[in-house]
Amino acid sequence: MAGKTVITFGTFDVFHVGHVRVLNRSAALGDRLVVGVSSDQLNFAKKGRNPVFSQEERLEIVANVKAVDAVFIEESLEQKRDYVLEHQASILVMGDDWSGKFDYLNDICEVVYLPRTPSVSTTAIIEHIVGNS
Ligand code: CTP
Repeated sequence: MAGKTVITFGTFDVFHVGHVRVLNRSAALGDRLVVGVSSDQLNFAKKGRNPVFSQEERLEIVANVKAVDAVFIEESLEQKRDYVLEHQASILVMGDDWSGKFDYLNDICEVVYLPRTPSVSTTAIIEHIVGNS
């Protein structure tokens, strides 16, 4: 495959400006951006609640972002290495809340941690709406 493929992962629930910025900044690091959208089951296991939007809806939203070339459902957090190899990615991008945690993948790809956009998160948006309802 020609050019550099960048891969990143996330839930991307209640899509917000922090999401679009991390996707744009990830895409700028290479020639092609592939995004793993975490499954409903993964989210339930991690947060004890289902996302607001289903995995099919979240996948459709992320697939339609201009910077994104391909999407897939991330079924397991432990399969990052398989996903990087499967999609022939040469750069893995993660948010800097994961700083250092994926350095063990340095043998197959470059690992880049991007700073999060301040003051916005899906959790904060949900809490804001619930608080005002
Ligand atoms: N992200 C970001 N800036 C934010 C929020 C998210 O750069 N303010 C990035 C994360 O670092 C990750 C991607 O967006 O690379 C997907 O994050 P996700 O966990 O889906 O979004 P959050 O808004 O952080 O969701 P939550 O509040 O449920 O943790």
